[in-house]
Amino acid sequence: MNCYDWPQYWDLAFDEDTHLEADFIEAAGRKYCSFPVKRLLEPGCGGGRLVFELARRGYDVSACDLSDAAVSYATERLAAADLSANVVVDDMRNLSCEPAADIGYCLVNTFRHLLTEEDAASHLQAVANSVRSGGLYLIGMHLLPPDADEEDNEEWSVSRDGTTVTMQLDVAQCDRKTRLETLKFRMEAVTHEADSPQLFETDYRMRIYRAHQFEELISQVPEFEILDVYDFWYNIEEPLQLSDEMGDTVFVLQRS
Ligand SMILES: C[S@@+](CC[C@H](N)C(=O)[O-])C[C@H]1O[C@@H](n2cnc3c(N)ncnc32)[C@H](O)[C@@H]1O
Repeated sequence: MNCYDWPQYWDLAFDEDTHLEADFIEAAGRKYCSFPVKRLLEPGCGGGRLVFELARRGYDVSACDLSDAAVSYATERLAAADLSANVVVDDMRNLSCEPAADIGYCLVNTFRHLLTEEDAASHLQAVANSVRSGGLYLIGMHLLPPDADEEDNEEWSVSRDGTTVTMQLDVAQCDRKTRLETLKFRMEAVTHEADSPQLFETDYRMRIYRAHQFEELISQVPEFEILDVYDFWYNIEEPLQLSDEMGDTVFVLQRS
């Protein structure tokens, strides 16, 4: 059972920040790019909540995901709204985008699905080859500061159009030596159609980063430089100072 194969519920659970994130992507383009931004790229797009919102705002979006179900859902949702985007099943470790994108973005920890340094570097190189000179790659993820609680958990519910999704997220098996942790997702969906709640549970392995480890990774891909960092408030007026104490972080990388 893979929660990512149920994008109608997953996207609803994460939809609250979609407008804020899309606003930030646009604001980053205005602040850091010396050309008008038209083409966007999203590796690991899931059910396409951001692809949909940015296509709706007029951008030419290319995106990929490993999940057939997520890509089908995104494609059907776009078609139903008479929008278009290029959404395909592909592995973000070796994606390519032609013509090159102006901005790539990879938010909400998707980057941490790349479990080894080699996979992360190969993904960054693939994105560097797919983003134009002067373009950006925005990566949003949780960093793990030294004093962070390793047994974190969260729970929230979202309701819309007769569907309620409750998401429980538990961090288990956090190992700073191997730099891997397990995120346990428990997603419950209550709909008019089903007689009883549907329950989906998946454990996802994620790579752990501290700020300096991310900087070391970026130094392996000379095409990218870290321009600025933000947190999940996405306030483009207030870049932050990157440090090993940071948790929620959005990196703005620029392609040379
Ligand atoms: C946390 S979800 C985020 C989805 C979407 N980016 C969003 O913001 O809502 C992570 C997504 O990454 C996809 N994924 C994980 N590893 C991948 C890989 N190697 N290549 C492509 N997609 C991948 C998963 O299938 C999943 O849909």
